[in-house]
Amino acid sequence: MSQYVPPIGAPRDAIDTPALLLDRDRLEGNIRRMADLFRDTPIRLRPHFKSHKCVEIARLQLEAGAVGITCAKLGEAEVLADAGVHDILVANQVVGPIKIARLIDLERRGDVMVAVDSARNVADLSAAAVGAGVGIRCLVEVDIGMDRCGVRPGEPALELARVVAASPGLVFMGLQAYEGHLQEVTPYEERRRRTLEDVQKAVDTRRLIEAAGIPVAIVSGGGSGTHTITGHLDGIDELQVGSYATMDAAYAAAGGVDFENALTVLATVISRPASERCIVDAGLKAITSEFGVPRVLIDGASFHEWHEEHGELLLEGSACELQVGDKVELIPSHGCTTFNLYDTVHVLRDGRLAERWAVAGRGRTQ
Ligand SMILES: Cc1ncc(COP(=O)(O)O)c(C=O)c1O
Repeated sequence: MSQYVPPIGAPRDAIDTPALLLDRDRLEGNIRRMADLFRDTPIRLRPHFKSHKCVEIARLQLEAGAVGITCAKLGEAEVLADAGVHDILVANQVVGPIKIARLIDLERRGDVMVAVDSARNVADLSAAAVGAGVGIRCLVEVDIGMDRCGVRPGEPALELARVVAASPGLVFMGLQAYEGHLQEVTPYEERRRRTLEDVQKAVDTRRLIEAAGIPVAIVSGGGSGTHTITGHLDGIDELQVGSYATMDAAYAAAGGVDFENALTVLATVISRPASERCIVDAGLKAITSEFGVPRVLIDGASFHEWHEEHGELLLEGSACELQVGDKVELIPSHGCTTFNLYDTVHVLRDGRLAERWAVAGRGRTQ
């Protein structure tokens, strides 16, 4: 036996560590809450797969009413298409002949949509789509302040929209404008003010394109930290929310987000070098350091220092009673980059193992 596989029904502490845990009731509650928020509104949800990379979670989101799924990578889209999911947005640029050939293949299987931000990429996509006899739906990505990909709002976006609309084999669907730079701005009122200001640039660009006689079917944006703002703006059609389903410590700390932490990493105390310190078997390779230290779910314990395979906790009060062999749960600072460290997530109900789900999109970075 190379790796211990706990039986279904096993209590939490019978799961070997480090292990990724997901509380199913909280997960379902989060998915339901987001779906309920927008059920009777014009907004459609297209949740982001990159956050959890689990087909089972994507299916729960679709069952709750999502119109499709967003993903960051072609590899993730292939995982979804293999699982029978249709209407997938690759919210990223698909560049180069190898990837474009895979996109065409996906289109045949799963009805994809892709973000574009350069005339050169549009020309390549168009030539490949014409050659294959398929139509590829495109969203022009607009940079509304994140300074990542995307053309400038206004005239530059209109110019590229014109190019897409005139390109054989491509279908201009609208715009993607993700305000990633604002998701965790505090206080919430400041997040709200800046989101309204920046997302309005996408809405104004939509109006400009429509005024030029090009129909815009979709303007997609929003994240877990701004859905309550972007989701109520006239001119926005879809939200690409991701983290809300499982949440993480960074989002919880930023506030203004009404979802529960469903995701933890289970670790074991493997050493007690001093009364006020302990070492757990979860380090950089078991839990992300991306947005800071994890939150330790034990009163008086805080995560202090990273090592590759070790995490050092500082202990106060009753936490000093922790013994070698005790289990502790850690809430990762960022869920997306923690999911990507595991092949399997252990799904718990009432503290017992209910299911094991593959993190099928793990490592599908191409
Ligand atoms: C393009 C895009 N859309 C949506 C999201 C989802 O954001 P969140 O996890 O904050 O909901 C992300 C996250 O990085 C993203 O890159």
